[in-house]
Amino acid sequence: MNTSNIESTVAALLTYGKGILAADESFRTIEKRLKALNIPATDGNRRAYRELLVSTPGLSEFISGVILFDETIRQRTSSGTTITELLERQGILPGIKVDKSAVPLANFPGERLTQGLDDLRERLIEYRALGARFTKWRAVLAVGEGIPSRGCIEANARALALFAALSQEAGLVPILEPEVLMDGNHTIGRCEEIVAFTLRSLFDALSDQRVLLEQMLLKTGMVLSGATCPEQADADLVAERTLRCLGRTVPAAVPGIVFLSGGQEAEIATERLNAICRASDGPWTLTFSFGRALQAPALITWKGIRDNIPAAQEALHLRAHDNSRAVQGTSLPNFDGGESFASVNER
Ligand code: 13P
Repeated sequence: MNTSNIESTVAALLTYGKGILAADESFRTIEKRLKALNIPATDGNRRAYRELLVSTPGLSEFISGVILFDETIRQRTSSGTTITELLERQGILPGIKVDKSAVPLANFPGERLTQGLDDLRERLIEYRALGARFTKWRAVLAVGEGIPSRGCIEANARALALFAALSQEAGLVPILEPEVLMDGNHTIGRCEEIVAFTLRSLFDALSDQRVLLEQMLLKTGMVLSGATCPEQADADLVAERTLRCLGRTVPAAVPGIVFLSGGQEAEIATERLNAICRASDGPWTLTFSFGRALQAPALITWKGIRDNIPAAQEALHLRAHDNSRAVQGTSLPNFDGGESFASVNER
């Protein structure tokens, strides 16, 4: 795998039929995920869990890159290999979440701005030396009465653009993730309006900041009905609205769009991804960059117990395989509804 320059990293991440595993939960988020299953959120459990994920046999068949958290990129496996070496040996690219999470935005009650720009240039140099080949920055936009506001959307767009420019300067592929949360009772129509406005603001900011669109990936949510909206759009409508929204807002120069799962149940996310990829005739490569929708079944199976590791890895492999089939437009096996993963899907 030649990833000596930024274009070859983009191409490797977008290898046909593969997606990106987001395993970059902050301390707070991973604690929430583990505690929801009564697994103590100790250093040892976090390390063991991340090792379980990245050492899943056959992971590289369906996964091109893994997004790590600062703690993990510095860690070694139980056999002494660094996590990044373990990924590289499998032909999987290590990536890193570089934002420092969202904090309340002054003057904008209920809204948040993602921080982490101050020392970013220095941190990127260090992450590259630790083996990272790509980066991620997540902005969070809550939906409610009167929000997200233009002020919040534009402040986050400027931060994303500065992050992208610095990543490209460091030879790292930026993944820009402006996430419109699915919490709320809003309709799919309102979600589409907000995602469209957000993406227009983002691409304006990227142009102002002279970011090279060919050397970045967009990570977005699907256009969905709010989680508590009484009328839930089916997969075909989600696909239609998502593709219409992206077609109106994302320049063709962007090589790839990778979807987050955002708290959707694992199989539902796969089904919707499949519908989107089957209906797409857009210029970009579409694939998945799921966190919860890849990990939830594995985490539930593991339960913090060593003997459960092989079964948990099988669960991750299955989700990765199904999502690989989804992006290739292959029809999916009928889902039986399965176990509910709601408890680990909550933010
Ligand atoms: P989810 O797929 O769980 O939304 O996670 C994706 C991600 O990278 C969040 O920042």
